[in-house]
Amino acid sequence: MALIVFFIYNKAMTNPLEMIEQEMRDLEARLTELQRAYYLDSRSLVSDQQYDKLFDRLSHLEELYPQFKAPDSPTQRVGSDLNSDFPEFRHTIPVLSLDKAYSAQTVLDWFSKAQAKFSNNLSFVLEEKIDGISMVLYYEKGLLMHAVTRGNGIIGNEVTQNIKTMPSIPLRLNEPIDLVARGEVYLGKADFERLNSEKGEDEAYANPRNLAAGAVRRQKSSETARIPLSMFVYEGFWDGMESTDHIAILSRLKALGLPTNPHIAYFSLNASLSRQRLDEAGLNEMKALGFSDIEQYIREKTEQRKALPYEIDGLVAKVNEIRVREELGYTEHHPRWAIAYKFEAPQAETVVQSIEIQVGRTGRVTPVARVQKANVGGADIQRITLHNQQYINELELAIGDTVSISRRGDVIPAVESVTEKNNLGNTTYQMPKSCPFCGSGLVKIGAHHFCPNTQCKERVKQKLIFFCDRSQMDIEGLSTKTIEDLIKLGLIKDVPDIYTCDFKALLSVGGYGERSVSLLEKAVEKSRQNPYVKVLSSLGLPEIGKKAASTLIKGGFKDIDSLLEAASSNAIEKVTAIDQMGEKTARSLFDSLNSPQMRQLIDELRNQGLHFSEEEKQSDLEQIFSGQAWCITGSLDSFSSRELAEAEIEKRGGKAVSSVSSRTSVLLAGKNAGSKLDKASELGVKIVSEKEFLDLIGMDAASPIEPDLF
Ligand code: IVH
Repeated sequence: MALIVFFIYNKAMTNPLEMIEQEMRDLEARLTELQRAYYLDSRSLVSDQQYDKLFDRLSHLEELYPQFKAPDSPTQRVGSDLNSDFPEFRHTIPVLSLDKAYSAQTVLDWFSKAQAKFSNNLSFVLEEKIDGISMVLYYEKGLLMHAVTRGNGIIGNEVTQNIKTMPSIPLRLNEPIDLVARGEVYLGKADFERLNSEKGEDEAYANPRNLAAGAVRRQKSSETARIPLSMFVYEGFWDGMESTDHIAILSRLKALGLPTNPHIAYFSLNASLSRQRLDEAGLNEMKALGFSDIEQYIREKTEQRKALPYEIDGLVAKVNEIRVREELGYTEHHPRWAIAYKFEAPQAETVVQSIEIQVGRTGRVTPVARVQKANVGGADIQRITLHNQQYINELELAIGDTVSISRRGDVIPAVESVTEKNNLGNTTYQMPKSCPFCGSGLVKIGAHHFCPNTQCKERVKQKLIFFCDRSQMDIEGLSTKTIEDLIKLGLIKDVPDIYTCDFKALLSVGGYGERSVSLLEKAVEKSRQNPYVKVLSSLGLPEIGKKAASTLIKGGFKDIDSLLEAASSNAIEKVTAIDQMGEKTARSLFDSLNSPQMRQLIDELRNQGLHFSEEEKQSDLEQIFSGQAWCITGSLDSFSSRELAEAEIEKRGGKAVSSVSSRTSVLLAGKNAGSKLDKASELGVKIVSEKEFLDLIGMDAASPIEPDLF
């Protein structure tokens, strides 16, 4: 009887597929609940193991039954290891930027003008201008379908999988509506400091925005998942939108589960009216102020800026009433109903006229922006490195764009952001497919493109320039111009040619005289005497500058042969055993040392007499044991090993031998000496005690050993 009831009761669940689907729904609900508690309230409702078990079970089922995988499945929060590109996506709303003001007074004037025009029938909000990445979220029937970068305001890049890993962004809204939300993705200051401190100096990001931009564009969403990005949503559009004002929009966005910024101030005729409106909308955490408080509020906010846990680069003033917004309308680029107050004037604004490609000695290809000359902090800037394609993508930079530029660390020019897209139809710049100097197809390694052709004339020229540089082999007179002339004349094709070249041929070219040619010849001759450390660091081995070269030598690689041997046998551990030498450096060093081109370069330079080993330093010690053969026997108290005593003998010109013969000059006899002592006395070999030996070499005896207790 009980069995029949069970079957009847379970009728709906007798289909195993249905049961699986139900299990998946249950797991999704539970995991979503656990994730919310964990990420948003910092509470763990279950142990890590229990969580992992549920998570793994759902992932497993999703793999087996992809047809049941929910579009808002909580498994997406950890991202995927699959590479994804970022397809273009046409925005359904124009994604405009804001007009800018650089003084609080401009904002106040803007307020007054609007008030006068609408005879006080309007109110305002002042929001923080979050210094992050502009993002547009597209929800369909309440499900997050697309997350898209701003791009040129019309077309952006879809980065949905990456954005889905962000815990604060709902994958499903609290209502099944179609909605577009605009906001800013950002990284907190503390997280930025922590992540950046784990990076090497070269790889460190300049500011949280750049790190966040990189995170948003990671090829693997599992990597984005590891970066604790946040978002504030500040504008929303949905079907049948009837909102009367911005406050109502924010209230709705919040109720739908989207992250809104609580640090917003609302200004109307007076503070209590403002409070009333905010409370009505359920936005109690926002600040309620009167028009007369605007100036004071801007001042306060500017001062508090440093104490905020995330970076803001200004404030955004917005008209609150939608009706007034519509009346004020838009210019081509900005709404007239909002204005951004930027705390600091950008260092300079200029236009990117072209992007040039540089090829370095290692083949690394670097895009460089040529901009309309602009003065930043007293220096005229015309060329700015753009590093690589990824950097350009993060900026969404195209030729013709207006950019805000700065000087990083007050020195290196950098493009901070695109402030105005070009209207020439240019889209984000793409690196060429082939080397502009030799035509070889470029290859991508990590974030950079490389020209793989070791004979590429630009690479060779850069190699020569580097080799002759003042901080390298220091060949005075072999300037970039002279190197170019020598290449043109066909006198130099590669580095070793410097040492066989007949510089007199330069006399046929204008600008060179007997005297300059003779100075050049002398400088080249002089460079033959450079010590090994200089030669090693001038070979162009990756990551081996002067400091690393000296570390390698001090670490035991006293000549190039020991280094080549370690490279041939791939003995990475011999390099990593040296303090400050990491595995990455060791591998790239070995790769380069094992290449036929590098071997040939080393051989040819060696044939030219360059130093490839560290000169042994002559000992300063008096050579009191010169010509003597010393043998050691028994145990020594003052030396932890016999080798150390032998070293002392050798430093003073003596030779250490292992057995006593008639040719042995001295026997150093320690404690418990055995047969060697007998033999020495037999042969009449001079015998010295450890104490006498220490006296001879001027060393103190070790502190007496503890007397035996037994
Ligand atoms: S409103 C039409 N509000 O600043 C509405 N923008 O050019 C335009 N931003 O691209 C945006 N915080 O990426 C708005 N509270 C905020 C903002 C904000 C940061 C960014 C946004 C925009 C840029 C201004």
